[in-house]
Amino acid sequence: MRQHAHVTGIFLLATAIIGFAGCKKSSEPSGQPPAPEPAAPGTEPMYTGPWTIGMSQCNLGEPWRMQMNADVEQAALKHDELEVIFKDASNDTLKQRAHVEEFISAGVDLIIISPKEAQPLTEPVAKAIEAGIPVIVLDRRVIGDKYTCFIGADNVLIGREAGKWIVDKLGGAGRVVELKGLMTSTPGQDRHSGFREAIEGTGIEIIFEADMKWLEPNARKEMESALARFEDIDLVYAHNDPGAHGAYLAAKAAGREEDIMFVGIDALPHEGVMYVKQGIMDATFQYPTGGAEAIDIALKILSGEEAPREITLGSRVFTQDNVDAGGEPIGGS
Ligand code: FRU
Repeated sequence: MRQHAHVTGIFLLATAIIGFAGCKKSSEPSGQPPAPEPAAPGTEPMYTGPWTIGMSQCNLGEPWRMQMNADVEQAALKHDELEVIFKDASNDTLKQRAHVEEFISAGVDLIIISPKEAQPLTEPVAKAIEAGIPVIVLDRRVIGDKYTCFIGADNVLIGREAGKWIVDKLGGAGRVVELKGLMTSTPGQDRHSGFREAIEGTGIEIIFEADMKWLEPNARKEMESALARFEDIDLVYAHNDPGAHGAYLAAKAAGREEDIMFVGIDALPHEGVMYVKQGIMDATFQYPTGGAEAIDIALKILSGEEAPREITLGSRVFTQDNVDAGGEPIGGS
């Protein structure tokens, strides 16, 4: 029976290991798996999967969000041990809250979320952390510190660099329309504050501002109002490229697109960068999706390696002058 005892021992050991790995969800309030013993050089990390990741995307209406999901998917495809379940909240905060709760009940190993709004998504993300499920927050932040890792570019810096570029381009003075992204989301707040900081004390006058909630049709409508009210508009600063393009379409319909400059943010190759090449837009600032980085960090967290709490992605500016050369980095990024 020694043999049997030995087999049982192996079985118990295996159960303990599986149990330990499975336990990682409820063991640490930070959502991090328990720190494993440091692996000897050249040995495998302690956890090896398979793992299920729940990816909660706030909306798939914009090309940028399609790109983020494609980046996550492509990076995950390189790892057989990962399965990603994608959910699209169709720009509905309540739906997105429910999705996170579904992921918690399903007991996924990790959640990646790109939240529509900061405040309403804070609670479900905190609940996941309390349940021991690590959460990577992508692009738009939640409030407070109950998440495992945040990945995104510095939106205050992007707003500030856009402001500086605009001041320079307009020779220090001009009449500007600001079309803001959803102001209950952090990129909208940061792209606004960075921009305002950069134009303060200059001759730039904001003659019209509106929250177009990141959406091209809203931007077009708001721009129609701006055009009806103001005969003289030098430039539109939109918090994303769909917003800048919507404004351009309104100006074109009014026969005024040649008199106005358009600046946006995102710089997807087949969107903002293409508009700059076509002469539709004057500048776009890159906003990387962070999808591939999210999978890298997910693997680190899941396999029990040390993971950073915050990853700040770099950005580039694309203008008529540099677009063919691939743009230029901003703010030392
Ligand atoms: C897409 C989008 C992007 C923008 C980002 C900000 O939904 O509006 O255009 O850069 O979200 O979170």
